[in-house]
Amino acid sequence: MPYYIVVLGTAGSGKTTLSGSLREYLEDHSLDAAIVNLDPAVEKLPYDPDVDVRDYVDAREVMEKYGLGPNGALIASMDMLALKINDLREEIEGLRPNYFIIDTPGQMEVFAFRETGPIILNSIIGENRRASLFLIDGLQVVNPNNLLSSLLLSASVHARLAYPQINVVTKTDLIPGDELGKIDEYFEDPYSLAEALNSPGYLIWSKDEIELLLEKLMLFDVVKVSNVSGEGLDELYAALQRVLAGGEDYY
Ligand code: GTP
Repeated sequence: MPYYIVVLGTAGSGKTTLSGSLREYLEDHSLDAAIVNLDPAVEKLPYDPDVDVRDYVDAREVMEKYGLGPNGALIASMDMLALKINDLREEIEGLRPNYFIIDTPGQMEVFAFRETGPIILNSIIGENRRASLFLIDGLQVVNPNNLLSSLLLSASVHARLAYPQINVVTKTDLIPGDELGKIDEYFEDPYSLAEALNSPGYLIWSKDEIELLLEKLMLFDVVKVSNVSGEGLDELYAALQRVLAGGEDYY
């Protein structure tokens, strides 16, 4: 039975790069991995996709044909893809890797706020074991208020998909050591993050409420990775094993 890893996150957080480096990592450990590109608007990919939704729907064509902007075209394309979901699922089921890595579009509202994204993913994955990786751009979350927003968005995605989820902080190679230490501290101690937030974070919550909220938001596993150096991929694999295979090691 294959495992499915869904890679989600804000635009530019590193989904495509991580999808490629994770497949390489798994293959280096003698595991078969296939990447499904679920982004109908992507122009260039750093990896060769095993399954590509652009064979089913092309956001650029949709944009021209219906006079839509990039966001509208993406949403319309995903709706169109949902109508072709049986063909897509058959193509995916024709492959037999240990892992499927599903690379998703940057406009993550399709997954956080709309039904199409979850419908497509659930149709593809069926009853198989799955995990979602929510990518958080490390360069952004050096700012504590950005970290709060990212954690809320991660929770929104989880509320929609309800897959076991791991938060992945990317681009650690670009973050100075002391800033990285701060991020660690925030994840280890939600109270330190509550303390560091600027007042806008408190507009609708009292300090007690925000501390409680942060405690809940920190319940997801968190792993820090660099897609460039590969640092953190061992930890990510270990976290995936905990979620997908109950700790069983496959290499
Ligand atoms: P969209 O699909 O457009 O939302 O982007 P994405 O989330 O797939 O991000 P992508 O992988 O395209 O990465 C965005 C940029 O960040 C690219 O220039 C990557 O090379 C770079 N990048 C991604 N991960 C890392 C990382 O860990 N370290 C460094 N230094 N750069 C990274």
